[in-house]
Amino acid sequence: MIAASVMDYRAGAKERLPAMFFNYLDGGSYQEITLKRNVADFAEIALKQRVMKDVSKVEMGVKLFGQSYSMPVGLGPVGFSGMYRRRGEVQAARAAHAAKVPVALSTLSICSVEEVTQKSGAPIWYQFYMLKDRGFMSALLERVAEQKCPVLLFTVDLAVLGARYRDVHSGMSGPPGLRTEISRAWQGVTHPAWLWDVYLTGRPHAFGNIAGAVREGKGFGAFSKWVQENNDASITWKDLEWLRARFKGPIVIKGVLDPDDAKEAVALGADGVVVSNHGGRQLDGALSGIKALPAVADAIGGRIPVLMDGGVRSGLDVLRALALGAQACLLGRAWAYALAADGGRGVRSALEIIRRELHTALALTGCTDVKQAGRDLLA
Ligand SMILES: Cc1cc2nc3c(=O)[nH]c(=O)nc-3n(C[C@H](O)[C@H](O)[C@H](O)COP(=O)(O)O)c2cc1C
Repeated sequence: MIAASVMDYRAGAKERLPAMFFNYLDGGSYQEITLKRNVADFAEIALKQRVMKDVSKVEMGVKLFGQSYSMPVGLGPVGFSGMYRRRGEVQAARAAHAAKVPVALSTLSICSVEEVTQKSGAPIWYQFYMLKDRGFMSALLERVAEQKCPVLLFTVDLAVLGARYRDVHSGMSGPPGLRTEISRAWQGVTHPAWLWDVYLTGRPHAFGNIAGAVREGKGFGAFSKWVQENNDASITWKDLEWLRARFKGPIVIKGVLDPDDAKEAVALGADGVVVSNHGGRQLDGALSGIKALPAVADAIGGRIPVLMDGGVRSGLDVLRALALGAQACLLGRAWAYALAADGGRGVRSALEIIRRELHTALALTGCTDVKQAGRDLLA
């Protein structure tokens, strides 16, 4: 398909995916207020147009946690990606490696950390949720270390699960029973391209990282119940110590929106934070990522890198986030729509679109290096 902007892939994803997977990917929690704010608040930020600067060369490379990347953009963790395309996490990781940007694998991915690392041919960041079974978590961290994951994203904004109304209506987490089963089957057979690519030839569909811990249960409803029961809602900042003893690389706290939490993260030795509200899927009514970013960046005061996500849909959004204090942005839906619509090729193209847009935005604001992006770029 031809995409001019990454949002063109949303339509392709909608067409290709059964409604329950499209709505799972596209939707947010409760009334989806935060989901909408994440995008709308970016649009409010005006950039300062500057002219007559020599912008024939624009440097976009960055260093993050000791690694060099071609631009300040990465693929954030998106669960279930292997249900959008055949072995979707592998396709996305290959695209990220080709573009020389980081990619984080969700704990709730279909492909395991071993499969993605080995088939994509390079190490990946790993996103970690804390489940109650610490023995299992320790063993999982050993697997992550064995695959030489350079960075651990520790997601902390999912102590309990926000309710997603769309998932109830679509059959994703609807009440078990014949009606839901028929709805799911109908959605499958009416999307034959997906049915062939994912359902029939994209197996196994287990959660590769936690398959050993998940009790067999039917469908996503059973799985989300399992998450509620097994997720460790008792974790506090003290648990960073536990994690630190088991993961030797940089630990980045994902899901910080409040400056006091950011200060706590620094005080307890975190190596970075991701300003994030989980893509508007958790606390509906929370601030957008981009609105929360400046206060968090100020609280951190340059001591550790600040990344952000939530509503990043273009390279111009990336520049807005850099101007407000982020060192890099993570994409969520932007890359997952592209994966669903056009596989690894879609993700490669989405990254190139973002790269071109960021280059243009830098040049037209008079910057010759991403590192120059600061609040003076804002009009
Ligand atoms: C379908 C979907 C699944 C997600 N799964 C995870 C996950 O497993 N772990 C995690 O830390 N964040 C997860 N996220 C949140 C993303 O990492 C990111 O914070 C969010 O998507 C950013 O918002 P945006 O997609 O609107 O840009 C998920 C988001 C979506 C849309």
